[in-house]
Amino acid sequence: MHKIAPSILSADFGNLQRDVEMINASEADWFHIDVMDGVFVPNISFGFPVLKSIQKHATKPLDVHLMIVQPERYFQDFKDAGAEVISFHYEASTHVHRSIHAIKDMGIKAGVALNPHTPVSVLEDCIADIDLVLLMSVNPGFGGQKFIENTYKKIRDTKELIAKSGSKALIEIDGGVGAGNIQKLVETGADVLVAGNAVFADADPKNMIHRLKTFS
Ligand code: DX5
Ligand code: ZN
Repeated sequence: MHKIAPSILSADFGNLQRDVEMINASEADWFHIDVMDGVFVPNISFGFPVLKSIQKHATKPLDVHLMIVQPERYFQDFKDAGAEVISFHYEASTHVHRSIHAIKDMGIKAGVALNPHTPVSVLEDCIADIDLVLLMSVNPGFGGQKFIENTYKKIRDTKELIAKSGSKALIEIDGGVGAGNIQKLVETGADVLVAGNAVFADADPKNMIHRLKTFS
């Protein structure tokens, strides 16, 4: 069964506890936490104080997506703030293999995120060590953007790479996911679907999570 990871980026920060509890009570599987530094992406989101407040109330795993330069400087801090999955960007890391193992050595899952222009083939020599491949289906930086159709091809490429290597990596899709494309994404091979705008802009976010989970 595919996992749904609502993105806190689209939550109401003035009512963060309410939104976290809504996700706790919903059929969502993970909390998706977008950390942006204003350097790797043209936006700044939030850092440790906010993450710690989320952790205090969340009853589901925190899936942290780092859109920051030199991500390895902060792996330990994010683990300490409650991350169970940490994904860093291939484009932001000089030593991808070392970073993957630094995360796994802390006993949590390691993900590598790829921007829309980065081919999946760059992961060929480390796919066996990766727990999660995060395919960006928009250019990272903002919620509510239009889904990039080439993502379907990248899911197929990732599936092929995973099958060839015997890797157990999950495929996560991030950006522009909603009720209109989720079924096709899952049928193509996606395992984890991030949804920000689709969930939080809906009049009934909990019901939207149900719809994303059941394709209804
Ligand atoms: C974009 C973030 C996404 C974003 C998804 O840089 O990585 O996680 O919040 O938002 P939607 O679902 O609104 O495209
Ligand atoms: Zn994200």
